[in-house]
Amino acid sequence: MSNFVNGFSKKKKLEKIDWIISNHFHNNKKAKDILFSYLNDDKSIQNLHDEFIENTITNFYLPFAVAPNFLINNKYYTVPMAIEESSIVAAASKTAKFWSKLGGFKTEVLSAEKVGQIHFFYNGPFKKIESFFRKIKKDIIKDLNPITSNMEKRGGGISSLELIDMSEKINCYYQIFAKFNTIDSMGANFINSCLEKVTEVFKFYIEEKKFLDGSSEKINFLMSILSNYTPNCLVRASVNCKVDDLEKNNGGLKDKKFIQNFIDAVKISKVDTFRAVTHNKGIMNGIDSVVIATGNDFRSVEAGIHSYASKDGNYSGLSDAYVKNDIFYFDLTIPLSLGTVGGLTKLHPLVSWAHDLLGNPSANELMQIISAVGLAQNFAALKSLVTTGIQKGHMKMHLLNILNQLGANQIQKIRAVEYFKAKNVSYKNVREFLNKG
Ligand code: MEV
Repeated sequence: MSNFVNGFSKKKKLEKIDWIISNHFHNNKKAKDILFSYLNDDKSIQNLHDEFIENTITNFYLPFAVAPNFLINNKYYTVPMAIEESSIVAAASKTAKFWSKLGGFKTEVLSAEKVGQIHFFYNGPFKKIESFFRKIKKDIIKDLNPITSNMEKRGGGISSLELIDMSEKINCYYQIFAKFNTIDSMGANFINSCLEKVTEVFKFYIEEKKFLDGSSEKINFLMSILSNYTPNCLVRASVNCKVDDLEKNNGGLKDKKFIQNFIDAVKISKVDTFRAVTHNKGIMNGIDSVVIATGNDFRSVEAGIHSYASKDGNYSGLSDAYVKNDIFYFDLTIPLSLGTVGGLTKLHPLVSWAHDLLGNPSANELMQIISAVGLAQNFAALKSLVTTGIQKGHMKMHLLNILNQLGANQIQKIRAVEYFKAKNVSYKNVREFLNKG
């Protein structure tokens, strides 16, 4: 049977499910039951989920957890985290508690600028279009008013609109490079609407003022879209403490060896891409969990942060660690473009609950919370790596997953958790434990 289908999107949800189960699962009942087991009994929630995206056939759950005791700028937060990987939440919680006793995390938003671009081709002289653009820029901005006025009332809007000559990179290629402040919204829709309007208005003036030299000049507006690279939407999180305070909690290493190892691990992330990517992945474990729990766009956050990690020409670790005057410093600076209004923030009941849990922070405050979680996660990973190794703690947290994979019952799970407190967790050891009865 061919699995090609016409008009799939027009089918009702149940028809879609039937088509899939019959075409891909030979009408297997279990395959259908799995889809139904993830549907929500609350019709209003299910309807919401059905309408978030297209062709919805069921829901995809991630565990939703919290990490308490995050002391950030002298305020305690209980942080929501949605993530599938075991040990991340435990590491965040443990590190939050640890640093809360040493003054907690200090964070600050360094800048909050968002970017959008209009890419176009023009085969005439740059000077000509530059002077034309300069003349009509004020009118363009005025014509944007219906879109920007609300954002301006909230203190945001377009902060600049510049024409950029890119023709050295690609022949005839130019950009209108726009900067925005979108206050508490991530701003993707706002920015894209503004850019498309700028394009429309720019085209209008080109026609109206007969800008093109009839016979030979041509202009082609290719695309208008925000950029997810936001190197000027930056937040910094840091911790510091006396060297002795950290050495007391050093995982067993003696004579200031812990701090030296820790700093060396950070140094390696600055020079070796293989290590840098994993180092940053550990940071993203914390960042993505909170970004997802708060209904933000984790793909844009990922793309933006990883590109920032390459800003100096080489992909490198995002955090820094050093000792100065017997004080240990550890910090992280990242771009974070987030929203606390719009998008899913009010629409998705659990996301909205997560914002309530955090005290309904502004986008600036959420940037700070998330950067602190990223730093905490990086601290936890490096601490394990340079002391006990990652597997000891990770496998302990992974024990329940292994037990579930092996079909253990509740009593076996309780016994196993007790037994493995003092033993190495591995798939083989857990299987042997269960076989022994
Ligand atoms: C695992 O999810 C993350 C780590 O690999 C991060 C790191 O190596 O720094 C432990």
